[in-house]
Amino acid sequence: MKKPRSLHRRLALSLALVALAVSAALTCLIVHRRSDIIRTAASNDAETRAAMISAYLRHRDLTRSELENLLAAMLPDTASDTGHFIFLGVTDAQGRMLAEVSHNHEASLEEFKAIAGLPAQALRKLRDGELLEWKIIGNRPYLEVSLPVDDPEGPTVRRLEGWFAVSRSEEREAAAALAVAVAASVGTVLLTTLVLYPVILRMLSRLTRLTRRLLESNLEALQVLGSTIAKRDGDTDEHNFRVTLYSVRLAEALKLNDHKIRLLIKGAFLHDVGKIGIRDSILLKPGKLEPTEFEEMKLHVAHGVDIISRSHWMDEAKPVVACHHEKVDGSGYPAGLKGDEIPLLARIFALADVFDALTSERPYKKAFSYEEAIATLRFGSGTHFDQGILEVFLTISHPLFDLFANREDGAARREVEKIIERYYGADMAALLE
Ligand SMILES: [Fe+2]
Repeated sequence: MKKPRSLHRRLALSLALVALAVSAALTCLIVHRRSDIIRTAASNDAETRAAMISAYLRHRDLTRSELENLLAAMLPDTASDTGHFIFLGVTDAQGRMLAEVSHNHEASLEEFKAIAGLPAQALRKLRDGELLEWKIIGNRPYLEVSLPVDDPEGPTVRRLEGWFAVSRSEEREAAAALAVAVAASVGTVLLTTLVLYPVILRMLSRLTRLTRRLLESNLEALQVLGSTIAKRDGDTDEHNFRVTLYSVRLAEALKLNDHKIRLLIKGAFLHDVGKIGIRDSILLKPGKLEPTEFEEMKLHVAHGVDIISRSHWMDEAKPVVACHHEKVDGSGYPAGLKGDEIPLLARIFALADVFDALTSERPYKKAFSYEEAIATLRFGSGTHFDQGILEVFLTISHPLFDLFANREDGAARREVEKIIERYYGADMAALLE
């Protein structure tokens, strides 16, 4: 059985996805942490300087002009590494603006100006206590600061209102540091992934080899069981290989998926395994069975279900083993299921099984010609067989008859080996199912 070609690709893809997810998570973490650090430094700076201005104003009754001169002096000239105030104002107890100044030289602060034009409304919402709140304007972070200037119990309660902008140089430095941190984290993750890749690949290859051996053992067990009952039945192995071949070709024509076809292969090999529990006097009786003998013969279905239920892997053959003698008109056994109540795999297999029985020579009959066999199948259309499935089978049956019917030269066996390789050996997913 060939080595699965997709193993490398699947492993590489899985590891790449994991590395990508870890890198993205690390990047988010670093961005968040870096942003926190910048904001903490800026808010500490803004709060300290706002507190200084507020303390200076306390107990001083300055005119509007004096206030504006004082606030203007605190704008860009007092800039620090972390940033500077772009707006400062003082309001009275009713929220009326007593004096205000703003830094109008940064063209990128147009959006701020729109907001700064309504400082009283923007800031009036919080009248008590101190306010420090980050706001994003035009993708830049600004800190809104509001502090009481006077004693809250006093006759006048003025407030200092300010907007603090993080410096662009600080943002650039932060972005550069961030890029380095992200590159380092992504590089570390990728390097770790590359180091781990051959280790995981080696382990996975061992697992694949073991799984393949296990699968080969299971497939051998299928064939051994099929062969055992064929020996007992006085039949040959070729019947099992032919019905497997016919049913798989029919399932392919019906466009069943690979998983369903794998189940069909198991069912085809094991369909009559329950005959092992039928007495020789009945199983090998050359003539027609008496009614009581036929009733006992029917039990091979229940015996088969019982046998395969001992193995989880073989139990997947149950739809075929349990229902391959059901007929669409409900006259089959053991449950008398009708139409679609019969599993699709069993309806497919029943057709292949009967076609092979008709076209094979037996001690008590000659092999039917193709035309005779098809006429018999058509006679059972809609009663024994699913009409739609039969119509599809008729489109593929003639070449199958010409190549494989009633032959004991191993042609069907070789074809089934290719089928097993196709459906069980092609990829790792199938092996691990
Ligand atoms: Fe059977």
